[in-house]
Amino acid sequence: MEILGATPTRNLALELARVTEAAAMMAGRFMGRGDKEGADQAAVNAMRLILGTVDMNGVIVIGEGEKDKAPMLFNGEVVGNGSKPDVDVAVDPIDGTRPLAFGRSNSLAMVAIAPRGTMFDPGPFVYMNKIAVGPEAKGKINIEKSITENLNAIAKAKGKAVEDLTTIILDRPRHEAMVAEIRKAGARIRQIPDGDVAAALMTARSDSGVDVLFGVGGTPEGVITACALRAMGGEIQGKLYARDDGELRRGREAGYDFDKVLTMNDLVSSEDVFFATTGITDGELLQGVRYYGDHITTDTLVVRGLTGTVRQITATHTTHKLENLTSVHY
Ligand code: FBP
Repeated sequence: MEILGATPTRNLALELARVTEAAAMMAGRFMGRGDKEGADQAAVNAMRLILGTVDMNGVIVIGEGEKDKAPMLFNGEVVGNGSKPDVDVAVDPIDGTRPLAFGRSNSLAMVAIAPRGTMFDPGPFVYMNKIAVGPEAKGKINIEKSITENLNAIAKAKGKAVEDLTTIILDRPRHEAMVAEIRKAGARIRQIPDGDVAAALMTARSDSGVDVLFGVGGTPEGVITACALRAMGGEIQGKLYARDDGELRRGREAGYDFDKVLTMNDLVSSEDVFFATTGITDGELLQGVRYYGDHITTDTLVVRGLTGTVRQITATHTTHKLENLTSVHY
């Protein structure tokens, strides 16, 4: 295959599946143990190991851990085997550390890559207000408009009434006013404890029954969601969200514009993106890791922006062979 400049090659999508599978298999051992840090460290270690084998010269733009003080694949860290293409890398070794630690659903390992210089770097600003939809409502949303106006636009695009729409939103006190407005508008609401990437991706799956994600969640998760939705045909818009005046002031001093609408193009400016996510605990998007002694099964979603191909890969890993090869106990 010919490599065109800094354009990621096709096989990277599938290589990323190995990265998230390894992270999920390691992290899955921590299900219900109440040990968030231990789980994060295990997922990070596994991701690091396999990322090092991927044919790319990657720099981490979106690392995990700023918000939670988790062990990091830190921003600026160089990953990959050093060969072309040059890419930006976004990792979320565990999205849903709490659900994993307490044995709840929808915990995922995820990674995205895009050509160098194309991913939004949020710096230390951890929260973003978001709206995300699937393909049918793409181009119809506007985060500057009210929730009611957006619900009307989405309903029209999908050919149904607002009362037929299901919204999804993180269950947080900061969303009280939004929830009140959604209720007033008449749409249904799913309030979820964690995991707004999975929630955003559900809007792009016609069988999920979810039409739109609203609310404030992690900025890194927003960039990763943009990479995934580029391939899945949906849309996310965001706006940086400051928790207090001090954060707003520091952000402005550092040159961040908290009034700017971050479009898909701002969040990742290339269509040439790859994204992979593996279920750690069982969820609506993917099944979690299952351990059978001599083998382990994983369920992974792999998407490629340029082609829009969405693959779901169920893998059976033969435990002793894997351990002999990698010297890692899965
Ligand atoms: P982590 O597991 O990485 O902490 O993220 C879980 C998550 O629910 C994200 O999906 C979401 O974007 C963010 O946390 C919301 O932040 P907070 O829990 O601080 O409201």
